[in-house]
Amino acid sequence: MYISVMFVGLFGMFMFAGSADPVTYLDRRCGDDLSNLWLDVVLVVDNSRAVTRMDRVRKNILNTFHNGTNIGTSEDNPRTTRVSLVTYNKYSEIIADLNQFESFDDFNKSISMNLANSSTFDESYLIKGLESATVVLEKSSLAGERLNYKKVIVIYASLGDDILLAIPLADRLKADGITIIAVAETSGTDNEKLDFWLDLISSGSMSFSIQNEKLVQEIQDSFLQTNCFCPNGWVQLRTSYYDMHSYRYGICLSLSPLTAIWRAARLSCRNQWRNGYLVNEYEANKHNYVLESLRNSSLFRLPYTYHIGLTYLTGSWYWDQPEGNSLRKVDNQQWKNWNPGYPILSSTQTIGVNVQNVTDESETGWQNENAMGEAHYYVCEVASCDTDNYFNCFCPDGWTQYRSSYSYVDSSRFGVCTAATVIEANWRAAQFSCRSQYSNAYLINEYDLNKHKYILGYPKSDSTLTGVTNFENQGEESSGWQNVNVNKEYQFYLCEVAACDTENFCEPVDN
Ligand SMILES: *[C@@H]1O[C@H](CO)[C@@H](O)[C@H](O)[C@H]1NC(C)=O
Ligand SMILES: *[C@@H]1O[C@H](CO)[C@@H](O)[C@H](O)[C@H]1NC(C)=O
Ligand SMILES: *[C@@H]1O[C@H](CO)[C@@H](O)[C@H](O)[C@H]1NC(C)=O
Ligand SMILES: *[C@@H]1O[C@H](CO)[C@@H](O)[C@H](O)[C@H]1NC(C)=O
Ligand SMILES: *[C@@H]1O[C@H](CO)[C@@H](O)[C@H](O)[C@H]1NC(C)=O
Repeated sequence: MYISVMFVGLFGMFMFAGSADPVTYLDRRCGDDLSNLWLDVVLVVDNSRAVTRMDRVRKNILNTFHNGTNIGTSEDNPRTTRVSLVTYNKYSEIIADLNQFESFDDFNKSISMNLANSSTFDESYLIKGLESATVVLEKSSLAGERLNYKKVIVIYASLGDDILLAIPLADRLKADGITIIAVAETSGTDNEKLDFWLDLISSGSMSFSIQNEKLVQEIQDSFLQTNCFCPNGWVQLRTSYYDMHSYRYGICLSLSPLTAIWRAARLSCRNQWRNGYLVNEYEANKHNYVLESLRNSSLFRLPYTYHIGLTYLTGSWYWDQPEGNSLRKVDNQQWKNWNPGYPILSSTQTIGVNVQNVTDESETGWQNENAMGEAHYYVCEVASCDTDNYFNCFCPDGWTQYRSSYSYVDSSRFGVCTAATVIEANWRAAQFSCRSQYSNAYLINEYDLNKHKYILGYPKSDSTLTGVTNFENQGEESSGWQNVNVNKEYQFYLCEVAACDTENFCEPVDN
């Protein structure tokens, strides 16, 4: 197996954590640096006559954005937040779209002026406000702006005439991945009714009251959680598997229903996403979360046995880490989950797996096994995108993320984007074209059969240039390499570039 051969080479590159390593055995939390928040936010503010305390709303809005959050856009810094302002009463009005405010001062001026007083209308139609917010977001999306930024709507609502009618629209927005935060502007009576309705309108656990002393922090925390997410196809670790709205950690998990020996599994984690590695289990919560995720999927068969990042080196057990980082010693962590009798001291049983208990099926525990032994399922992890990790988790517009299967969109995604060009060019020109299409792009490389096949899945991919050229065999659904003259032979071609991900913020080429 070529994979094993490659690993013998990598083995020498392991690094060891020193004894004074100050590592904490806690799972990574989402970044919480508000000055690095990167979101698009639409404020939808009720200014009907029922809102008697506009000053409270104004103050709350300003304070929420006044912890160093960069408002607007910036050429040098992608970690900025755009804010739009919509007001509603009997009618709604888009005061500012997402591109208007270029600084906190701009924003402050507009808020101070436009939310100085409530209007003279008695009626209040939340649905009109939400419709205007939709217009703002759609316009931005059609213009292709910041497609990789999470979108948030913050509603400040009094007990309006139609809150129930707004629920279907709110549901659609949430289904589109937009987060809705709702604040009850309760000056009068009937607070309970308003709270109840706003619970339905908002994304789970994101409905608050204007009277809450901690409101600013609650909204900021909701922003930070929204700004913390995983690459497509990865599952985000939460405090509770069954509560979708429980706290999200800054950790993404990928569960592989394909089996591999430990070393191949580890390599696969590294290839699936930059800085990916085999899962670490520091706390029972994460262990249980992984198990619940397996249990809830029909792709995994009982009894569960799956590779985790446990590896034995020079007298101790260590956790796998991103490539180039020191491994973490397992001895130093409090919670351990060895099955009775494990680990077995052995010079060959040097990797760890989770094995389901035959008598108590609800549990799995750690056992060590032969490193070159059986193939099992495996679980990878990688840090989420968040305020600390601001890089996109997508491919540039028009590029397709390379997956393990072309026809199965949910198959695991690699940190590589590809683009097919249907204008023919010779090899030199194609190479140049790839380089010009995106920074650091190049003609596609085919390291393994899967990628070669994946490319064949593209429409019109029958003759593509890959340094040499893939020519389709006559009448067959396969193709192979042939060398051709770099200046003659005009063919279609395919480019590739690293995915924009937690490590790689994509900058388009300046033309
Ligand atoms: C935000 O700013 C307020 C006032 O300037 C300050 O009291 C608070 O500690 C800050 N919060 C954070 C999370 O920095
Ligand atoms: C917002 O602008 C007003 C003047 O319009 C100023 O008095 C106030 O200090 C500003 N607020 C902040 C937080 O900068
Ligand atoms: C706006 O409200 C303030 C009190 O907050 C009041 O003094 C002022 O007269 C009002 N302005 C208008 C135009 O109604
Ligand atoms: C469990 O799996 C089902 C079906 O795939 C899915 O709809 C559901 O969201 C999963 N549950 C959780 C808590 O993720
Ligand atoms: C399985 O679970 C039972 C009951 O909890 C326990 O007594 C036994 O030691 C476990 N066996 C293994 C291999 O973990």
